[in-house]
Amino acid sequence: MSTRTRKQLGLAALAALIVTLTAATTQEPTSLKEAYKGAFVVGAAINAAQITGQDRRGDAIIGEQFDSISPENVLKWERVHPEPVTYAFDLPDQYVAFGEKHHMFIVGHCLVWHSQVPAWVFRDDKGNFVDRDTLLKRMHDHIQTVVGRYKGRIQSWDVVNEALNEDGTLRQSPWLKIIGEDYIEKAFQYAHEADPQAQLTYNDYSLENEAKRNGALALIKKLKAEGVPVTSVGIQGHDGLQWPSVENEDATISAFAKLGVKVVISELDIDVLPQATKQQTADVSMKVGQDPKLNPYANGLPQSVQEELAKRYADLFGVYLKHRDVVTRVTLWGVTDADSWRNDWPVKGRTSYPLLFDRSGQPKLAFQAVIRVGANTKTE
Ligand code: XIL
Repeated sequence: MSTRTRKQLGLAALAALIVTLTAATTQEPTSLKEAYKGAFVVGAAINAAQITGQDRRGDAIIGEQFDSISPENVLKWERVHPEPVTYAFDLPDQYVAFGEKHHMFIVGHCLVWHSQVPAWVFRDDKGNFVDRDTLLKRMHDHIQTVVGRYKGRIQSWDVVNEALNEDGTLRQSPWLKIIGEDYIEKAFQYAHEADPQAQLTYNDYSLENEAKRNGALALIKKLKAEGVPVTSVGIQGHDGLQWPSVENEDATISAFAKLGVKVVISELDIDVLPQATKQQTADVSMKVGQDPKLNPYANGLPQSVQEELAKRYADLFGVYLKHRDVVTRVTLWGVTDADSWRNDWPVKGRTSYPLLFDRSGQPKLAFQAVIRVGANTKTE
């Protein structure tokens, strides 16, 4: 073999090696957490079957795909503190242990909300509303006990959930009626006292709608001005194929970012079913009667809608990535379509397709689309 031929062979081998190495390094990530590493953590809300290991398929997906978890229900007041002197910490303890085992960013949801809170919280023995001091004390004890128990282990708490009406005014919840407007700052102060390191979030839905967004902006501005330890705003993200527009989502995130708080997308799911309510909402108390017209994909999702959902997910993740300096977490509200609350809300028994994994735990087109958005940004 001539020196020249040998040299050529050597170059060819080197070129082959470079191609192999490049292919290996540019290979698309296979998990959401990997695709968005360095931008934000990607989470899932998990249910009791997943927390206790009964849903093995779900657990495998969670472990492989996500680097954050939220408790879909187990830390809500009615579950964790059903009676005045009874706390139920068994499932929450297992929830936190699950997150620690997987080295995840662990979220607590939620401390002060008007839903999924027992009636006794607001009442005395005769059934009348308690006074301001009594309710403040109950709120304080609850927050101290629950947040205190997981101090340093739950990294972020949804402190106040859904305090606003659609027109941006404060919701007339028992919290507001009994304590007054400062119930919000008190809740944040108590949570901060119980765990000074924890991130503390104001969480709500439909913040993309102008009136509600303005109400939330005014609220956060006021809290910040008063030195209340609010660190982030949770945009729930119970979205549809059309709402909110990409421009609207973009503008909403920017508006909160300007106030100096971080933004989390805390409960993302995208419904492809016909909207059953007049108004865009995620009000858990909303109930709409069954109607076959509202359940068009009971036997499967047409490919065209599958593609539409994939594009929609990609567009929204594009917006979140654009704001990676302020968006610290994007959490899907469930793991597979079979788990989603949107199968039963606001209409019971629909077949809904709002998440990234299908009913048999397989990744959907939307999953691939979301991975691609994350991967492309990395290689830019
Ligand atoms: C939902 C859960 O997913 C359901 O399982 C439960 O029956 C009702 O609550 N906004 C929130 C979440 O902050 O806690 C709600 O979760 C969905 C709307």
